[in-house]
Amino acid sequence: MHVTHLSLADFRSYARAEVPLGPGVTAFLGPNGQGKTNLVEAVGYLATLGSHRVAADAPLVRSGALRAVVRAQVRQGEREQLVELELNPGKANRARINRSSQVRPRDVLGIVRTVLFAPEDLALVKGDPGERRRFVDELVTARAPRMAGVRSDYERVLKQRNSLLKSAAMARRHGGRAMDLSTLDVWDQHLARSGAELLAQRLDLLAVLGPLADKAYERLAPGGGPVAFEYRGPVVGASREELYTGLLAALGEARKQEIERGVTLVGPHRDDVLLRLGELPAKGYASHGESWSYALALRLAAYELLKSEGHEPVLILDDVFAELDARRRSRLAELVAPAEQVLVTAAVPEDVPEGLEGARFTVADGEVAPA
Ligand SMILES: Nc1ncnc2c1ncn2[C@@H]1O[C@H](COP(=O)(O)OP(=O)(O)OP(=O)(O)O)[C@@H](O)[C@H]1O
Ligand SMILES: [Mg+2]
Repeated sequence: MHVTHLSLADFRSYARAEVPLGPGVTAFLGPNGQGKTNLVEAVGYLATLGSHRVAADAPLVRSGALRAVVRAQVRQGEREQLVELELNPGKANRARINRSSQVRPRDVLGIVRTVLFAPEDLALVKGDPGERRRFVDELVTARAPRMAGVRSDYERVLKQRNSLLKSAAMARRHGGRAMDLSTLDVWDQHLARSGAELLAQRLDLLAVLGPLADKAYERLAPGGGPVAFEYRGPVVGASREELYTGLLAALGEARKQEIERGVTLVGPHRDDVLLRLGELPAKGYASHGESWSYALALRLAAYELLKSEGHEPVLILDDVFAELDARRRSRLAELVAPAEQVLVTAAVPEDVPEGLEGARFTVADGEVAPA
């Protein structure tokens, strides 16, 4: 699939932007701070309902404006669709498909798919478990958009269970009435049910992604691997049923501690993925260059996976070439060049490797113009 037109209204630095796009490579060039990343961030938002740079929507709305609109015309084979998201920080976002009446934002998932490479990706390897969970869950959702619903169910149950545990912890500390634990049992079941579904999808994903990441790493940094993943959590079962009973049991074991601490201590929201490079964990051991290659390999593997499953995504390379040495630069360029659509940002044209020729836009003073 590819995006044939991107429209922005009050998104980031743009009051308005209209950007016609074609298949193949498009590069956005211009000095720092001119709005190149803002453009590709908008495309990424349509695919994930989130930004790769910030956790909340507020910074995405142009300063002084109340809401932002991101709209894209998307072509998938012969089919054309228009997707539109309206971002209303502090209120519910709205969505439309083909100008028809409102749908839920999560209903647009799956129309635009992206794999976005950015300088922030280094955190996948070096950062907190939350970075890796987000990577995994976004990819889980790109493969199966219905998982957005499962994830939001899980988050909702987790929040309610946490507030129950918090009041139980308070009551305990202040000698109040003990909580009726049967309520907690019900929440445990809800949490274990959506938790097991998410866990099953994560494990399935990692099983197929691992070999692809290993292959990608070998192409980027020959002889430097192997690369392998290990899921880190209290429950790693085979079937959904086993994961469910495993999670319930783990919650049971943790309950006393949870009531003391007032927070849910087990579940997919606490898990991590150990990224191995050779015999060692990448985090804490890999060099800067190795960590970079690892992060790129994760994104390339995500691309290969979605493509092999019939969901060729838009590849977005935000300012990544400037970070790489000449060899990895040209390797990466070779690997991404055949994709249906590649959007590249760079401050200087020399940072776009040969082999990624295509359309060019200059981005300056809030204007996006053909170069
Ligand atoms: N909500 C907002 N309202 C107004 N301006 C914003 C908003 N968010 C970001 N900006 C502005 O957008 C600019 C950054 O845009 P962007 O990150 O796209 O730059 P860039 O061209 O990618 O730069 P670089 O080459 O440094 O990566 C900054 O000047 C910032 O002040
Ligand atoms: Mg940028």
